[in-house]
Amino acid sequence: MIGLRVRDPLRGVRLQNTHAIRSSEVRDTMAHDVVIVGGGTIGLATGFELARRGPSVTVFEKGRAGRGTSWQAAGMLAPDTEIGFEELALYRLNRESRRRWPDFVERVEAAADTSVDYRTEGTLIVADDRDSAEALRRRYEFQRKQGLEVEWLTGEEAREIEPFVAPGLSAAVHSPTDHQVDNRRLMKALRTAFEVEGGTLYEQTPIEAVVPDADRPAVRTADGERVGADRVVVAAGVWSRELEGLLPDARPPVRPVKGQMLQLRRKRPFDLTHVIRGPEAYLAPKSNGRIVVGATSEEMGFDTTVTAGGLYDLLEGAWEVVPGIRDLPVDDTWAGLRPASRDHAPLLGPTAAPGIVMATGHYRHGILLTPVTAEEIARLIRTGETSEWLEPFSPARFSDAESPRSSS
Ligand code: FAD
Ligand code: GLY
Repeated sequence: MIGLRVRDPLRGVRLQNTHAIRSSEVRDTMAHDVVIVGGGTIGLATGFELARRGPSVTVFEKGRAGRGTSWQAAGMLAPDTEIGFEELALYRLNRESRRRWPDFVERVEAAADTSVDYRTEGTLIVADDRDSAEALRRRYEFQRKQGLEVEWLTGEEAREIEPFVAPGLSAAVHSPTDHQVDNRRLMKALRTAFEVEGGTLYEQTPIEAVVPDADRPAVRTADGERVGADRVVVAAGVWSRELEGLLPDARPPVRPVKGQMLQLRRKRPFDLTHVIRGPEAYLAPKSNGRIVVGATSEEMGFDTTVTAGGLYDLLEGAWEVVPGIRDLPVDDTWAGLRPASRDHAPLLGPTAAPGIVMATGHYRHGILLTPVTAEEIARLIRTGETSEWLEPFSPARFSDAESPRSSS
């Protein structure tokens, strides 16, 4: 279906697909198979995977699609580097999603006719003193035990493959399968791909509440309009728990974890090809010259202030492992909010609220987890069957606990 750009006479909101325009302008009378709340990487990719298989999908986005946390991220696709010693179920999901990335990129790029800058040089984890080298050695042994292809390097060997890392590094580990993408390009591409496949996107349209119902669940917009569908997917990231209409049992226990970031601009001869992870900061170089440096991890509620201390820590951490950044221009600074659940794993699948499906709480890995989330949630909605990938992350694991609002 080809997208058209017109104004909705009722609200001034842009409608973008012909099937939406031919229907009544009252949205509840339109044949929505699926309504998705939230136009970030999770909402748009899930919409894309559904729409390309036929169902009519509508995404409601309170601001501009793709400009939430997904815009603020670093774009690392790094299951092996970010492996947690006690998070094996999540690690398995992360690995599976990484495995699916190349096919996903191909589909999205083909539909959107643009590149998302998927880079496969891999990640270098570097240690700059005895303590960090010991921690790296422990991580490396754990990674080897998991059967990973990681390679131990001396400081000198690391400089052979990445000349601008610090001369005095103690050791490094090369993780060739931890890739990266330019998440900002991805957001633009996903938006286009979703619309090209026939999805309808309403921006500047906040959803105030979800209305559970086994046969015809619905959402209610901020100005009181009710929009029904066969299934409603909550993909509102860090704002997911603010939606009204869910009993405490079904409300996602998602809280914001602040990450401050800064962006440097490549200035040749300085260049980086790998993602570099030091003990205190990471650097993710994009092909267009952006070098994203991150990130702090702070429990500050919805505060997104960029602080002198946050930037100081990031610059110091980055400079220690890549001293050549000293002369690079600083392009931008920002803070994003990671949607973290109580166990730091995502909430994926049906909830205690009939008709309402959750796809949120992706914390540090939402870009990485996009393909597996989108494909498996789309499959769940089309077939009604939950998969082995979704099961360990069922939102029901929080259902017997106390109300998330009172617990945090
Ligand atoms: P979002 O992108 O926030 O999308 C949710 C959307 O829902 C938003 O656009 C919002 O406006 C909309 N919305 C909210 N409420 C409503 C409502 N009521 N009605 C309508 N719309 C609504 N992950 C990685 O995999 N790799 C990384 O390198 C990485 N780096 C990160 C660095 C930082 C500093 C941060 C903060 C995060 C990072 N992440 C990374 C995590 C990743 O960014 C998130 O997990 C991911 O973006 C979450 O995607 P989302 O679609 O759930 O949320
Ligand atoms: N995954 C990188 C971050 O959350 O900062």
